[in-house]
Amino acid sequence: MGRLNDKVAIITGSGSGIGKEIALTYGKEGAKIVVADFNEDGLKQTVAELKDLGVEAIGIKVNVTNEEDIANMVDESVKAFGTVDILVNNAGISDHMQAAGNVTDEVWERVMNINVTSVMRGVRKVLPIFQEKGHGNIINMASISGLTGGRGGLAYTASKHAVVGMTKNIASQYGPQNIRCNAIGPAHVPTPLTNNMSNIDEFGMGVATRGVGLMTKAGSTQEIANIALFLASEESAYVNGVTIAADFGWSAY
Ligand SMILES: NC(=O)c1ccc[n+]([C@@H]2O[C@H](COP(=O)([O-])OP(=O)(O)OC[C@H]3O[C@@H](n4cnc5c(N)ncnc54)[C@H](O)[C@@H]3O)[C@@H](O)[C@H]2O)c1
Repeated sequence: MGRLNDKVAIITGSGSGIGKEIALTYGKEGAKIVVADFNEDGLKQTVAELKDLGVEAIGIKVNVTNEEDIANMVDESVKAFGTVDILVNNAGISDHMQAAGNVTDEVWERVMNINVTSVMRGVRKVLPIFQEKGHGNIINMASISGLTGGRGGLAYTASKHAVVGMTKNIASQYGPQNIRCNAIGPAHVPTPLTNNMSNIDEFGMGVATRGVGLMTKAGSTQEIANIALFLASEESAYVNGVTIAADFGWSAY
């Protein structure tokens, strides 16, 4: 028996990095997987790897900033698998480490649309399904930048604080309906997001990385996926509204 047997999980941003690892980890535990990403090559690759493992999986091309795409993602999941049990709001982007004095409206809006508004829309769309079933599970990908102030640019930090706040609000307001909402706050995990940062604001990067020497070690995508598995499974049944720092103690310092 897998820990997620027959659960249907939608994972946004699962064409790459942490989201892809969550998809593979959930699939190995018996879940049926909806790979949702706007990178078609990435999503096809994740679906192919899931199918090689014998996992039931579909891929849906989704731009999470587009409300129609979010609606279609949930509707197509229900059409394919009959329901949705778990929504992982993982798709996200960074902000070129732009400090407050240098932040552009364009970056601010893009980061807020992808990292914040999409989470609200995804949750709004799945809630009626969860309410009808009498249970449901939402897992949001926050960041250490949602728990601390100085380790990212302004827009990214604001966006991840919003994710932490939404997580608490949803858990508080829908917990009585047996709906859980938790988040994960990773520190540094090498992925295309961190490896391909471009147009870096040198001032923002300089001040944000002053404390990097105090970070004991980077994490792996599997270490983050393991937390996502715990939060999706019944082992965390009494956990609601928290953001688990996944930083090997960096934010504890
Ligand atoms: N890697 C880290 O160090 C780190 C640390 C803390 C938090 N996070 C968070 O983890 C999440 C995943 O990041 P990752 O490091 O795996 O990055 P990644 O770049 O490897 O993966 C992100 C995925 O999201 C997809 N995506 C981006 N914008 C999208 C959109 N508009 N619509 C649909 N899909 C979209 C991308 O195509 C990509 O497949 C993000 O929310 C990120 O903020 C990452």
